[in-house]
Amino acid sequence: MTKNIEQEKQLAAKEAVKFIADHQIVGLGTGSTAYYAIREVGEMIKQGLDIQAVPTSNKTKELAESLHIPLVDINAVQSIDVTIDGADEFNRDLMLIKGGGGALLREKIVASLTREFIIIADSSKKVAVLGKFKLPIEVIPFAANYVLRQIQSLHGSGAIRSVGGKPFITDQGNFIVDADFGLITNPSQLAARLDEIVGLVEHGLFINMASKVIMGINGTTETFSREG
Ligand code: 5RP
Repeated sequence: MTKNIEQEKQLAAKEAVKFIADHQIVGLGTGSTAYYAIREVGEMIKQGLDIQAVPTSNKTKELAESLHIPLVDINAVQSIDVTIDGADEFNRDLMLIKGGGGALLREKIVASLTREFIIIADSSKKVAVLGKFKLPIEVIPFAANYVLRQIQSLHGSGAIRSVGGKPFITDQGNFIVDADFGLITNPSQLAARLDEIVGLVEHGLFINMASKVIMGINGTTETFSREG
């Protein structure tokens, strides 16, 4: 059967929004899969759903506002009940690579405050081993070359993401380095090493954060849950 990636994304999104209930604080992810979930939430608001949402990027904020989804400042909430976001890759332990859209920093902050962090994905995102997708890393511009050298010392390579010949700038005013470490057989260890690099603001390895991945496949969805 040929894959219908857009249908898979939509199916996953429709399934994920079932976990949203009245009076919750809801995190809204970024990217083409999260887009479908945000559209669903917009429809649910029209039908009377009463929630407040925290967007993970300026782009998502604009989309949510256009759909009249009530927003709340992240600094005004203690925690977030449920967040629905996409991923670039996930493995069977629900470890993720995120940041393809460049929003990984705010996405990780929102995920950190979240009780139920749900990833929605099409079936192309499921991998045996992370690392085919280059790992996005948010870097302070002042530290860019230093961080690139530190990545090399970890046996990786990287390049500053550019758009139209200019560095891509994140919502926090930083650069993104897309790093290649080959296949990442020990994501926790790599994450710990990256966490030690000064000037590296955040990386796109999300370890033990997702509680569920809902994946669209063959006209239906499959849900993977993390134990513990
Ligand atoms: C943005 C992200 C996205 O969730 C990730 O890149 C997946 O995007 P898409 O759903 O468009 O494939 O992490 O920073």
